[in-house]
This record gives sequence, structure tokens and C-alpha cells, in this order.
Amino acid sequence: MDDLFSLKKAFLEEIGSVDDLAGLQLVRTKYSGKKGLIRARLRDLSSIPPDKRPLYGSTLNDIKNFIEETIRNRELIFKTREKEQRLETEKLDITLPGNFTPFGRRHPVNQILSEIKDIFVSMGFSIEDGPEVENDYYNFEALNIPKDHPARDMQDTFYISDDIVLRTHTSPVQVRVMEKRDPPLKIISPGKVYRCDSDVSHTAMFHQVEGLMVDTGISFSDLKGVLELFIHSLFGADTPVRFRPSYFPFTEPSAEIDIGCIFCSGSGCGVCKTTGWIEILGAGLVNPKVFEMVGYNTSEYSGFAFGMGVERITMLRYSIDDIRLLYENDARFLNQF
Ligand code: DAH
Repeated sequence: MDDLFSLKKAFLEEIGSVDDLAGLQLVRTKYSGKKGLIRARLRDLSSIPPDKRPLYGSTLNDIKNFIEETIRNRELIFKTREKEQRLETEKLDITLPGNFTPFGRRHPVNQILSEIKDIFVSMGFSIEDGPEVENDYYNFEALNIPKDHPARDMQDTFYISDDIVLRTHTSPVQVRVMEKRDPPLKIISPGKVYRCDSDVSHTAMFHQVEGLMVDTGISFSDLKGVLELFIHSLFGADTPVRFRPSYFPFTEPSAEIDIGCIFCSGSGCGVCKTTGWIEILGAGLVNPKVFEMVGYNTSEYSGFAFGMGVERITMLRYSIDDIRLLYENDARFLNQF
């Protein structure tokens, strides 16, 4: 019996100094394991004299139960403590802001292009596409710019071969549409154009929007009405508009359209070169020679055409002074629009 009491005493001492689950597991193996101290005594029960055996046996059993229960209790305490510690160290602050993926946004040139398209679509124009790699015929000849004509010098051109160019303007789409369809026509054609040009206001690739309206009885006043409405929608109803005589081979008469300088309100500054006006569009009545090329009856039909540079308009709307900023892909710049 002394052996049993010293077993219990030893257990109590050991368990008293155990402080974690790993230590507890060692004690459990030592006392309650298959090869543990309790089992050893149960196995040796037969060596106890029969008259002492019942008391010895029931005491051993009590001690066995006591040890197992004590271990279970400690285990519960340690597990609870471990869980609390984990909760404490893994605490989540659900009020912290999340990880944001920055959103992309539409390029300023595309934003303005959308506005331009919306305005013309609201006036009943439809949108037409054309190829960026274009035949010399559509880019120049059908627009009354014959080979070796000095007007070709106005547009420094990337030639793919003698007869194929990167289109220098969106005007060839006029010809392609007129070849396919009869009047009445009311179209715009936005897209990329290419010129061998590069400085603060020119890039080798830029965007234009071409416009064309053909019907019976179209006059210069129709052109004026459409373009004034367009400019007032885009730049505000108070924007002064001026039509100035000009020359394009594919229109006659031709005009350049200026708006009152939005930087100095017309008093004269560096941007408008002290004139108070800024050019934003070329336009005119379609030259009968262009109609003849596509087989339109010039005594029945007349029309107007116009063309504008989208980067230039974007720069005016957002007061951007260097066109190259638009194509450097610097997010600090682009995120402002
Ligand atoms: N194609 C001309 C250019 O690139 C712009 C232009 C001017 C287009 C007058 C037109 C027009 O349709 O009538 O400079």
C-alpha cells in the first residue's frame, strides 16, 4: 500500500510542475500509458497476497481514476489557455482598410472621343470604320490629292510601298463609304492616323474624327449649324466660334474653325499666340471632284465634310501643354482625368 501512496505522491509532484500540453503528455504516458506505472501494478496484482488484494485493488483503481481525471482536468485547462493565447495573438482588427487593387480608367483621349461620338450620334450621325493601312488611292488620290501634288507635303507620310501608306487622316473613310452607299449619308469616322512628325504638339500616331454629310440641298449653313452645335456641346454654350477661309483639296470652299482661346478668354496668350483664337477643326463643302470619283451625281447632291484631331481637343479641354504626356503611360498623369 505504501507503494501506491508514494505513486500518487510522485504523480502529484510531477503534475504540479507540468505547465503545458507536451509536458502533460509525458506524464500521461508515464502513469496511464500501456507500459505505464498503473498498468504494471495491475499486471502484478496476482503477486499480492489474496487477503490484501481487494483493498489493494480498489485503492489502485481509485488512484488510477484520480490520475486520469486529474490529467483530463489539466488538459482542459491547458487547451483553454492555449486557445485564449491564440485568440489574443491572432486578433483581427476588422476595422482596418482592406487591400485595394487600383482600378484602371479610360484614357483621357478615349474619354473625349466618347463625348465627341455621343454628340454626333445624338445628331443622327452613324459611326464608320476604315483601315489604318490604306491604299494611296483612298488616302490621297480619291480625295483630289494627285501624286506629286504639293498638298501631299502637308502630311508627312509613312509609306509601306509606293501604293500603300499608313493613313495620314481619317478622310479616306469618306470615300470608302460613298463607294458603297448612296446618299443621304450622315457619318463620322473616328480612328488612329499616322504622320512622320514629333514635337510638343505632334505624335507619329494620333486620333482624328472625320465627318461627312451628303444629301440634296446641303449648304455651308448646314455645316455651320452642325459644327457650332458640336463645339458648344463640347466646350460650353458661350464658347465663341469663328470660320476662317482655308484650303483642302477635297473641299471647296474650305474653312478652318477656331474657338475663342479657353486659356485667356480671347485677350491673347502664349497658347493662342496672342490671337485670342485656337484652331480645332478643318471643314468645307465636299469638292465635286471627290463626288465624281465615287460616281455621285454632282448636280443632285451636295455635302459637307470635316476633320478634327482628338488629342488637340483633349489638350484644350484639360489644359495639357505637351501632347507626349498622353502617351508616356505615367499613371500619376493619367489618374488625374
Ligand atoms: N483631313 C484633314 C487633315 O487631316 C482634316 C479635314 C479637313 C478633314 C477638312 C475634312 C475636311 O473632311 O473637310 O488635316
